[in-house]
Amino acid sequence: MERLQKILAQAGIASRRKCEELILAGKVQLNGETVTELGTKADPAVDEITVNGKSVGVEKKLYILFNKPKGVITSASDDKGRKIVTDYLKGVNERVFPVGRLDYDTEGLLLLTNDGDFAYLLTHPKHHVPKTYLATVKGVPHGTLLDKLKQGVMLEDGMTAPAELDYYDIEPGEKQSTIRITIHEGRNRQVRRMFESINHPVTRLKRISFGELHLGNMKRGLYRHLDKQEVEELMRNAKKADKPRKQIKSDT
Ligand code: URA
Repeated sequence: MERLQKILAQAGIASRRKCEELILAGKVQLNGETVTELGTKADPAVDEITVNGKSVGVEKKLYILFNKPKGVITSASDDKGRKIVTDYLKGVNERVFPVGRLDYDTEGLLLLTNDGDFAYLLTHPKHHVPKTYLATVKGVPHGTLLDKLKQGVMLEDGMTAPAELDYYDIEPGEKQSTIRITIHEGRNRQVRRMFESINHPVTRLKRISFGELHLGNMKRGLYRHLDKQEVEELMRNAKKADKPRKQIKSDT
């Protein structure tokens, strides 16, 4: 949050002194309401600021929660002509990019934004943002194998950090099972490689939570905008988390 006169000056409206005069003269609106208090603070990322009814041209920051279907590329373009995530964002005119990535065959919660600071904060490994997946695997990995994954396994790019795992569903006949797994890292194909390392390959992978956000009953291929509280909570928690934190459980 910054003082309005500072935001206006930074947006190139006028000098800070002149911007104060504009506010005092009742020429500035914040989210549609005229403000005349010089102490008023705003967040240019989420608040709509206008001078004489005209937007001050601060790019509106967008934060989108998308339920990515399987068979879609997490990228801004694809030279093989496959479907990309932004094909699904009808009605979003700003250029947004994914916060981290999901494999082509992975479905579920993917965030998109045009806010580079937000994306950096949530994907930086030192912030340990928890990500929860439902991994359907071949067979049923028994307890000691799950314990191995909980403690950390050696992959070709090093040991994995401690993870949380529990059984979510075991198919009658035990041909396959679904495990809920929460990891605090974001290495390439990490969940698939973790299960490969215990010889229970993943046949279906769905991300159901990212930080405090849950996919809930969002339909596949649809999206929604995050509200200000959700964005602030994600950023606040990412900033304070410099050691792994427990994922809030959800039955999604
Ligand atoms: N782990 C994977 O293996 N794939 C993903 O898409 C995400 C996490």
